[in-house]
Amino acid sequence: MIITIDGPAAAGKGTLASKLALKYNLTYFDTGMVYRAVGLDVVLQGKDPNDEQSALSVAQKLTFPRIMELSKHQDFRSAVGGDAASKVSAIPSVRAALLQMQRDFALNPQFSDGRKASGVVYDGRDAGTVICPQADVKVFITASSEVRAMRRFKEFQQKGLTITYDEVLAQTRERDERDASRSSAPMKPADDAVIIDTSDMSIDEVYKKVCDIIESHKKILEK
Ligand code: C5P
Repeated sequence: MIITIDGPAAAGKGTLASKLALKYNLTYFDTGMVYRAVGLDVVLQGKDPNDEQSALSVAQKLTFPRIMELSKHQDFRSAVGGDAASKVSAIPSVRAALLQMQRDFALNPQFSDGRKASGVVYDGRDAGTVICPQADVKVFITASSEVRAMRRFKEFQQKGLTITYDEVLAQTRERDERDASRSSAPMKPADDAVIIDTSDMSIDEVYKKVCDIIESHKKILEK
């Protein structure tokens, strides 16, 4: 089974996707990590993430072990990593270079310890539209930029990062704008995605709603 969870930053995709993967015994693929790895690698080389040649040369050599290595860096999940990811992800040739590894994962899904999995929960921006248009269940989750910025701000505070709410809100809006307006695979719900606005919902409510959608899908398949 392939499930795609797309949507803007801090909409709650990661928490939802991990809970679903656990419940349905599927592996979880956080596709944002692919772009964060490329963006951070470019920054660590002292280069500009807007520069196509620098980003493309990193993207063409990217491997899963390299992503895991970079994910341990303190800036991988910080605003620096997010901003660099958003910039490299707006370059069409970089997206094209990273597409196959994301698609291929669905053909031979594995857990992080190498065990074979029966399917994947993708978390991203274009999982339902570009990476896996054949997915069984597609969900697009969103929330107001203020609610999402507050969620991210609290995460940063817990990690001890010094940043104000207003700065997080400005970055959230800037990333939304870049993700939605890029020419290649702009962030948008697939035509057959269920759209859920989580602004006034708890994570448990969102989880329950998506589980209901998956159960209905399974019943249709069983018929
Ligand atoms: O989801 P996350 O915040 O980790 O993603 C970082 C950035 O990577 C996003 O702001 C977006 O620009 C980019 N991204 C993307 N396509 C994906 C996943 C992430 O363009 N499938």
